[in-house]
Amino acid sequence: MRLAILAALLLAPGLARADGAAPDGGKVPGPRPKGGKALYAALCACCHDADGRGVTAYGKQHGCPDFTSAEWMSKHPEADLIASVTDGQLEAEMPAFRGQLSADEIKAVVSYIQKLAKPTK
Ligand code: HEC
Repeated sequence: MRLAILAALLLAPGLARADGAAPDGGKVPGPRPKGGKALYAALCACCHDADGRGVTAYGKQHGCPDFTSAEWMSKHPEADLIASVTDGQLEAEMPAFRGQLSADEIKAVVSYIQKLAKPTK
């Protein structure tokens, strides 16, 4: 279990480099995940948890937000989420996905996490 988490952590920042490609090559290892859900599972779940609650050991330590919280989501409009994923929050170890993901892929993964938030009404 600890090993799996460690492996996920080691893999995460190196995703673009795992196949030896330059980090700005827009490459993810293996078959390229398609759609927000697959991208999330491949690139984000290691830190943010499969369900988006951010309760991985890493997420708790680094203060990953709870994407299932409608309150959190209501304070983070789409443009902010897109900016965070594009440019990261590097001081907090949220990686920047500019160059790794296209603008369309970033939009897809952002709309996926938006759907994780439980509806307010
Ligand atoms: C290496 C771990 C890691 C990975 C991989 C990662 N994140 Fe994060 N993410 C973080 C951390 C840590 C924070 C908390 C940043 C903070 O406190 O501002 C964060 C914060 C965020 C935020 C909130 C930023 C804000 O405005 O407060 C969004 C949105 C987000 N991540 C989306 C994603 C998406 C989408 C992916 C996959 C494409 C992803 N993250 C991959 C660690 C990660």
